Amino acid sequence: MAKEAKTDQEEELFEETLRPKKFGEYIGQNKVKENLKIAIEAALKRKDTLDHVLLYGPPGLGKTTLACVIANEIGGNLRITSGPAIERPGDLASILTNLEDGDILFIDEIHRLSRVVEEILYPAMEEGAIDIIVGKGPSARSIRLDLPCFTIIGATTKIGAISSPLRDRFGIVHQLDFYNEAEIEQIIHRSAKILAIEINKTASKELSKRARKTPRTANRLLKRARDYSEVKGEGFIDEKLVKEALEMIEIDKMGLDKTDKKVLEAIINKFSGGPVGLETLAAATSEDKETIETVYEPYLMQIGFIERTPRGRKTTHLAHKHLGIKSKENQNKLL
Ligand code: ADE
Repeated sequence: MAKEAKTDQEEELFEETLRPKKFGEYIGQNKVKENLKIAIEAALKRKDTLDHVLLYGPPGLGKTTLACVIANEIGGNLRITSGPAIERPGDLASILTNLEDGDILFIDEIHRLSRVVEEILYPAMEEGAIDIIVGKGPSARSIRLDLPCFTIIGATTKIGAISSPLRDRFGIVHQLDFYNEAEIEQIIHRSAKILAIEINKTASKELSKRARKTPRTANRLLKRARDYSEVKGEGFIDEKLVKEALEMIEIDKMGLDKTDKKVLEAIINKFSGGPVGLETLAAATSEDKETIETVYEPYLMQIGFIERTPRGRKTTHLAHKHLGIKSKENQNKLL
């Protein structure tokens, strides 16, 4: 098996072990949780299916986790698929006709569904039925198939890429936000307990500062610190060990990695701090445009290192200060 595939599988298993099953275990996103709890309780009271739910926000903030929690709380089976996995209308028709009453269908990266597939989804979401064409040529006719009662939970990192007819068919739409440091610390504490990792408070604080306000990153860094402690330490994680372990993998005090720095330095050094367009930035850094936009930029904007303007991305004085580079204005003042 390819090394990368194995790592991905390990990563999934790791995430699976740590995934909360109930709202009570899910840390943060309080407003979203409160709203969902009401919608779930109301649906249960009415013995009705939950309205379709759309969750959006940067990767790693817990969209899949929340879908698992919703399915558990409502007592339905969770079926997981993704936009890119549903290539043809027939693929979706087959998924939908195999659902059972009360199932929750999670569609990750829903913005990547093709238009033809989306069109199957509209009547399915609105009327609980799909129209399929049988036969070919003049004898072709459309037959309507009633579906079981189900709920779709769509997730996307790119809400702007979802067509408005699709978006309009979700009754419940929520944006997931970055977590604060205290919440990330609680997540690290919970994960450490589940995995029986010994870590003290200053160490979990230090990890949480470097976790990009993102649970997935927090759990990954915890795993790296555990590895380091088992090889270089005594199996116990303290602040000093966190600093050493993260220095080894080139994660700095604010959680920036090599790619974040490459992006920031490109804007500063090649484009005098910007503004620079996304395409140009991607070409200048040899990084994928989508990855910059959905993975790197949201955090850099959240911590105020990048600003988006109508003419492109700009770095801020905070980014310049963090990297120890004088900003344009300050350089000019010195001249
Ligand atoms: N793991 C991933 N996201 C989480 C969250 N919000 N709460 C607890 N554990 C998590």
